[in-house]
Amino acid sequence: MEAIEALKTRRSCRTYTGQQISEEDLNTILECALNAPSGSNKQSTKIVVVQEPEKIKLLSDLNAAIMGTKGDPFYGAPTVCLIVAPVDPGYDGTPKYDLNPVKDGSLVIGAMQTAAFAIGAGSCWINRCKEMLELPEGQAIMKELGLEGYQGVGCCILGYPAKAPAPKKIKEGRIMRY
Ligand SMILES: Cc1cc2nc3c(=O)[nH]c(=O)nc-3n(C[C@H](O)[C@H](O)[C@H](O)COP(=O)(O)O)c2cc1C
Repeated sequence: MEAIEALKTRRSCRTYTGQQISEEDLNTILECALNAPSGSNKQSTKIVVVQEPEKIKLLSDLNAAIMGTKGDPFYGAPTVCLIVAPVDPGYDGTPKYDLNPVKDGSLVIGAMQTAAFAIGAGSCWINRCKEMLELPEGQAIMKELGLEGYQGVGCCILGYPAKAPAPKKIKEGRIMRY
């Protein structure tokens, strides 16, 4: 699908076939993610691809517990990507804190979602990544991966859509000229 068409029609996917995403499609999505813009071109965001069902189940349970629900917040998607960004060690809670790594991570997820849609895959941003990775179980994963000092920006689930996305109504009045 052509870029403008994908940007105009992309929708989140919350119903997946059981089929795992192909390596070729995953690599295309990841390559688009790595090419997302980043403040000062620091490229500090990392992407953790999780495909083992037991690992996804653990993350799903943690995420659901934070949300206070029992359902699967990942909608059964066969791939869950954790997008993480470095925490500025100088963070002191003031607005001066350099938020660029989190902004960079958001652009990474945006690129992944549009790329996925363009090649016929489905994706959705799933929240509570930061809280999930701050739990003891999440911290253990981060330690295992050598990602101490990183925070969760968002989860991006991937798979193939089981149904066509519903059209979205775009809110009025969001473009202003000055
Ligand atoms: C920051 C952010 C957090 C989101 N968190 C969730 C989430 O936890 N669960 C979910 O199902 N969708 C989540 N979404 C997806 C939005 O609900 C979705 O983008 C929105 O409804 C617009 O639909 P569309 O993506 O199909 O255009 C999130 C999206 C963003 C950008």
